Amino acid sequence: MAKLIAGNWKMNGLMASSHALASGLAEKVKAKPDRADVAICPQGPLIKDALAAVSGSPISVGGQDCHASESGAHTGDTSAALLADLGCSCVIVGHSERRADHGETSEQVKSKAEAALKAGLVAIVCVGETEAERDAGQTETVVGQQIDGSLPEGGTPQTVVIAYEPVWAIGTGRTPSLEEIGAVHAFVRSRAQESQGLGDGLRILYGGSVKPGNAADILAIPGVDGALVGGASLTVGDFWGIIENCP
Ligand code: PGA
Repeated sequence: MAKLIAGNWKMNGLMASSHALASGLAEKVKAKPDRADVAICPQGPLIKDALAAVSGSPISVGGQDCHASESGAHTGDTSAALLADLGCSCVIVGHSERRADHGETSEQVKSKAEAALKAGLVAIVCVGETEAERDAGQTETVVGQQIDGSLPEGGTPQTVVIAYEPVWAIGTGRTPSLEEIGAVHAFVRSRAQESQGLGDGLRILYGGSVKPGNAADILAIPGVDGALVGGASLTVGDFWGIIENCP
């Protein structure tokens, strides 16, 4: 199975810079399309332009969040149906920044993931422990509860991706050891199997300070099927450096 390298642009980029980033990346991927499956997730208003910029390349475009409802009175939210209609193929749900900044619960994340599936999108469901939780030896408890609570009903390894992102590794330049990442990924797979029968063939991404310099080692860990990349997805050189380092 090819690795999946997904760029989470977060709340970064304006029209010109985002267009340049997406089209620069498209040129690289078109030249070497077999390195990995590549996706980018820009801010909502940039999606249409990003889709145009990557057209003719195998890069997928996704959203960073969606609402659980199909439509209605939800000011400021975006429906999964609209993301799909625009041409997106995936959406991130339950990122730790949404769980922290918007108080999203696993129950809400599950509803969002189910809305994504209903709209025909792949749901990239994020889980991960805080530093205090890791220090207290609660990583498996916390991540296990997030998996049980957040995975959609009726998902398959083709429609659900899990991103394991330790909160303390996001944007900090710190990462767990390779052994620690491998251990949590093995735990995530077995729990996803128990919880929703999703272990075999499920793609589990690692996220948190993935850079060109550590990508080869992280992506070579058994059970790591790709990466969800924040900061290093914001330049063509860094993001391509990660894609090129896929084993
Ligand atoms: P980072 O972010 O690569 O900047 O650590 C990862 C993420 O939050 O998805």
